[in-house]
Amino acid sequence: MSEETKVDAEVTTDAADSTTEATPKKTGKKKWPIVVGVVAAVLIVAGAGLWVWHEQPSFCNAICHTPMDPYNATYDQELHQTGIDKWGNEASTDAMLAVTHKATGSTCMSCHVPQISEQIGEGMNWVTGNYVYPLEERSLADLVEARGIASEEFCLNSGCHVNDDGSVMTTDDLQAKTADMKRNPHVPQHGKVECGECHKAHRASVNYCSGCHNDADMPEGWISSADDKKLKKAFESGAAA
Ligand code: HEC
Ligand code: HEC
Ligand code: HEC
Repeated sequence: MSEETKVDAEVTTDAADSTTEATPKKTGKKKWPIVVGVVAAVLIVAGAGLWVWHEQPSFCNAICHTPMDPYNATYDQELHQTGIDKWGNEASTDAMLAVTHKATGSTCMSCHVPQISEQIGEGMNWVTGNYVYPLEERSLADLVEARGIASEEFCLNSGCHVNDDGSVMTTDDLQAKTADMKRNPHVPQHGKVECGECHKAHRASVNYCSGCHNDADMPEGWISSADDKKLKKAFESGAAA
């Protein structure tokens, strides 16, 4: 897989310490405030327009067609169907967070909250071709890492998952919600399991507990740990070709 990495983004600028003298140009000094003002105004207007567009799902694959198309394809689906996942496999749309959250009005940016540091890095990687395609899988934990928060804080907050009375859902509330499931997935029976270990956005979610307990309840469209392993293996061998 690593062979696909096309360009090393590192740019060596050893030539910089050559003997060229840095002669400061002193002419045209008075025009600077005007030029700076005009440039700033243009940037603000362009930037505001770009920011609005940037929030639309269309932005993601307009800028980066190839790597983003499969993600837009998973997102652009309706609930309660057999659709496709990001790797082109059949998958229940009810088992993919991207679709279930689209139905509640989320856009790409609701989950992929823009972080300037990340975006600059991603932009550079795209421009220089420094990425593997298909993209390597990230996790929910990776997604929130740049913002310095944990997955549960990201999902269980006043703007997102709340109880019927409007209070923020706690992990205890979550356990109560799925208490009727055999092998309640939200009980950290053997230690904490990352939310994203089970809940997947762009492919079918996985019941991690099924890896050892074949009596674990499987929600409609979810896949077992065994099928998850098969999918990942198929992806890895395909991606290496
Ligand atoms: C409900 C939240 C959510 C929405 C909406 C969402 N994503 Fe994601 N995205 C995730 C999560 C979580 C991951 C981590 C991998 C996974 O769970 O599938 C991810 C992973 C990714 C990745 C990294 C590569 C990978 O396979 O892990 C890309 C690229 C991406 N999403 C693009 C998009 C685009 C483009 C949109 C909108 C068309 C979008 N996402 C909408 C949550 C979301
Ligand atoms: C071991 C697997 C697993 C883990 C880990 C897990 N979940 Fe779940 N979660 C499930 C399953 C299975 C369901 C039931 C889905 C269904 O019925 O469609 C569910 C349902 C949910 C629901 C919907 C509850 C409802 O009925 O309203 C929310 C919200 C949720 N999980 C959030 C989280 C968060 C946040 C985390 C991390 C703190 C997490 N889950 C960790 C498997 C898991
Ligand atoms: C790596 C394998 C493995 C995974 C994954 C796993 N378990 Fe277990 N689990 C075990 C073993 C082994 C036992 C002990 C079996 C026994 O006591 O009979 C056990 C015991 C249990 C028990 C108590 C014993 C019983 O049978 O009543 C519960 C409840 C349980 N697991 C729930 C879960 C849940 C929920 C998950 C997912 C979050 C999970 N397990 C994931 C291996 C696993």
